[in-house]
Amino acid sequence: MLTRLIYASEPSQPLAPESVQTIVDHASMANERSQLTGMLVFDSSAFLQVLEGRREAVSETFCRIARDSRHRRVLLMDVVPVDERLFSRWSMGFAAADAQGRELFLRFGGHGRFEPHAMTAASALGLLRALAAH
Ligand SMILES: Cc1cc2nc3c(=O)[nH]c(=O)nc-3n(C[C@H](O)[C@H](O)[C@H](O)COP(=O)(O)O)c2cc1C
Repeated sequence: MLTRLIYASEPSQPLAPESVQTIVDHASMANERSQLTGMLVFDSSAFLQVLEGRREAVSETFCRIARDSRHRRVLLMDVVPVDERLFSRWSMGFAAADAQGRELFLRFGGHGRFEPHAMTAASALGLLRALAAH
């Protein structure tokens, strides 16, 4: 059974771009092994991630991610069964939520800032899809 999960979190302490790259590189490799796909968005204050794949693999990976001390305020926003993958191009796509994303944050987030904890799951998915299409 295919499942899609979306969560938001915030870094426990300021993360250098290299540290984020390390997270993405490791995630890509691990996700490929587990046939997971998805996308991670990061700015200096928050993460937003979507994971899709077999339900067991999504659940196991999310539980591992949720225990990771590099982030906190992990907010599970959505877990739904799906018929097909939306992010099948990436084992873990990455987008930095920089100024270029401003127009997208306005469209999906409301205030022109990246605040995933304040978004609905539908808005978060819309933003993730728009960033993936960029
Ligand atoms: C924001 C964030 C996103 C992550 N995304 C993934 C991911 O998509 N897949 C994955 O296997 N690990 C991901 N990790 C890493 C896991 O939290 C964990 O460190 C890694 O799976 C190794 O777990 P272990 O030390 O328990 O073996 C992520 C970590 C952070 C902080």
